[in-house]
Amino acid sequence: MSDQSPPAAEAEPIPLDLPSAAASPGIGTIGFLGCGQMGRALLSGWLSAGLVAPENVLVAARNSAAETAERFGVRASTPIEVAGEADTIILAVKPAQASALLRGLHFQLGQVVISTVAGVARAKLHASPARLVRVMPNTACRVGRGFTAILGTPDEMPEDIERAERLFSAVGAVATVSDEALFHGITALAASGPAFLFAAMEAMADGGVAAGLPRDLARRLVVHTFAGASALAGVAGASPSALKDEVTSPAGTTIRGLQVLEARAFRGALIDAIAAAADRSRELDKP
Ligand SMILES: NC(=O)c1ccc[n+]([C@@H]2O[C@H](COP(=O)([O-])OP(=O)(O)OC[C@H]3O[C@@H](n4cnc5c(N)ncnc54)[C@H](OP(=O)(O)O)[C@@H]3O)[C@@H](O)[C@H]2O)c1
Repeated sequence: MSDQSPPAAEAEPIPLDLPSAAASPGIGTIGFLGCGQMGRALLSGWLSAGLVAPENVLVAARNSAAETAERFGVRASTPIEVAGEADTIILAVKPAQASALLRGLHFQLGQVVISTVAGVARAKLHASPARLVRVMPNTACRVGRGFTAILGTPDEMPEDIERAERLFSAVGAVATVSDEALFHGITALAASGPAFLFAAMEAMADGGVAAGLPRDLARRLVVHTFAGASALAGVAGASPSALKDEVTSPAGTTIRGLQVLEARAFRGALIDAIAAAADRSRELDKP
């Protein structure tokens, strides 16, 4: 640690809109159309937060509905039953399946369909006479620390946005954005981003093992180091660059490691990874 740099930030933490955990009236029955990685993360987060009771949840999938229902104590269902019964419908199938699945179903007036589907513009998904809201969550919703962007254009009904905000703020932070074009970057950074960080965590743990640490200790250190760094960076006014300088003493251990990262274009690789993921999201949006 340097003894010369001023603290990066001493201000109040950024309010992260973390879960209220209170059961939320007005959500009604939640039905999942598709319940794989993303659907289960939401289901698990909402049940843990007490947002919905298991008997008020229906899950429909291709083959795995019964298994998911048994695991979470919810009701196994079919897409037709979900469209017929649920008040709030979570669309969590892969982009390629989304439009065809919705086209084959009959929705009801008053229902709200919430699409978590990456890359597919809201205007390309039709669930009439139900209303449709587009969101982009991430799998950290499973542990109440997700981030969800909600598309809130002037065309959207305020009560639908409010319903989405209530649902997703129960499992993490939310941001309502009015420009749908931002969803490509949001998807890359916040939905794909955790995978990039997991890859970094795995590699850093390997580095710890290479430095002689037992595997379990290396994994624990990585998890706590990421959590601590994230908490520091989340303080209002904090700058990652200043925080990095705090840790980087002249001729110390950190600068030696940073030299290697710079030589291997670490930052350039991350910038390119986010840009590539955003490009892929744009591709998914093409017919
Ligand atoms: N994974 C993420 O981190 C993440 C983050 C943000 C957004 N998303 C979005 O979430 C959506 C789902 O992704 P995922 O990672 O959860 O995929 P996944 O694990 O493959 O889950 C897809 C689910 O859809 C079901 N399914 C497929 N075709 C169906 C059909 N015709 N009718 C009913 N159910 C059907 C599958 O059933 P079976 O289980 O029986 O195969 C499975 O439960 C995607 O659109 C993705 O863009 C994902």
